[in-house]
Amino acid sequence: MKRWKTHIGLLLRYCAKMHPAMAPGGHVIVQLSSGKEYRVSVKQVIIDCDPGIDDALALFAAFASDRLFIRGITTVAGNVPVTLTARNALALCTLAGQDIEVASGATGPLEGEVHTASDVHGQNGLGDVELPLTGQISTRGADQLLYEELIKAGGELEIIALGPLTNLAILLERHPDVQPYIKKLTLMGGSLGRGNVTPFAEFNFYADPLAADRVLRSGVPIVMFGLDVTNHALLLPDQIDEIESWGGPVLTPLVQMIRFYQKFYKSKGMDGLKMHDPLAVAGVIDSRLTEGQAYALGVETKDRDTLGKVCILEDPRTVHVCLKVHQEKFSPLFMNLLKSYQM
Ligand code: BDR
Ligand code: CA
Repeated sequence: MKRWKTHIGLLLRYCAKMHPAMAPGGHVIVQLSSGKEYRVSVKQVIIDCDPGIDDALALFAAFASDRLFIRGITTVAGNVPVTLTARNALALCTLAGQDIEVASGATGPLEGEVHTASDVHGQNGLGDVELPLTGQISTRGADQLLYEELIKAGGELEIIALGPLTNLAILLERHPDVQPYIKKLTLMGGSLGRGNVTPFAEFNFYADPLAADRVLRSGVPIVMFGLDVTNHALLLPDQIDEIESWGGPVLTPLVQMIRFYQKFYKSKGMDGLKMHDPLAVAGVIDSRLTEGQAYALGVETKDRDTLGKVCILEDPRTVHVCLKVHQEKFSPLFMNLLKSYQM
């Protein structure tokens, strides 16, 4: 009986993922002849990102999850310039066989100079692995796609932001009426402790501190996956070997990217690879992976030394900050999602 129930659940989630109209309110309810009801939830999301090797891994986890329906991908300048992040997102969709609209967004921060991280992610952002491309970047811009899809979804759409928050800040500024339609914003960025670009600032917040400040103070319900947790969500050398052993046309280039990312961490004397962006996606799939508490937050935008630092404010506590990760739950979830690409 248990296995049979699992199969029904999988089938329903698949249907709801492929045909979201079947799942008004983000779930389908099925009544069996016994009268028992099963509620199967599918979250509709837009992923805003700057691929980026860990963004690529996060996207692959999201593509593979039967809990998420991806309504679009928007890209922003971050790890590499925006022309590359948009191209990379489309190439990753091509590799995974996903027909998802990709819209390009901001070319740089709201204010100040552009910062990239090609030392971590390679000149092309994907560990210098060249991927073929089919399809076109959308004629809609990132903020237009976000706005139109959020309104269309009537309050049922969540955003997952894996790069600098420029596109989100622009969306809120250009379209203030959109705010109540954002069900939740889950973001990777910031840190209540040390930074990874400066002692105070994490990369995504450092790359656009003003956007991060505006978004954190906006009142949108936010779940923040900062370095406090993502530094402890690791992919270990044995697991990389295991993924490599699965092989196949999808995982082989993905493993080449992971190996590039591994070289960066090895050069810093680290064995494990930090799964910053994949943890944020995994946390949307399963909220039990982390524990945290609510804060009111802003970001330092003026002082040169502490630019991008997270500041704790009094009220309102609209940001749930994840502070502890259950690595023993994250690891199997992430590995199982990647395993679904095994040929
Ligand atoms: C964040 O910065 C980027 O380099 C990664 O993709 C991640 O989003 C970690 O600080
Ligand atoms: Ca990223």
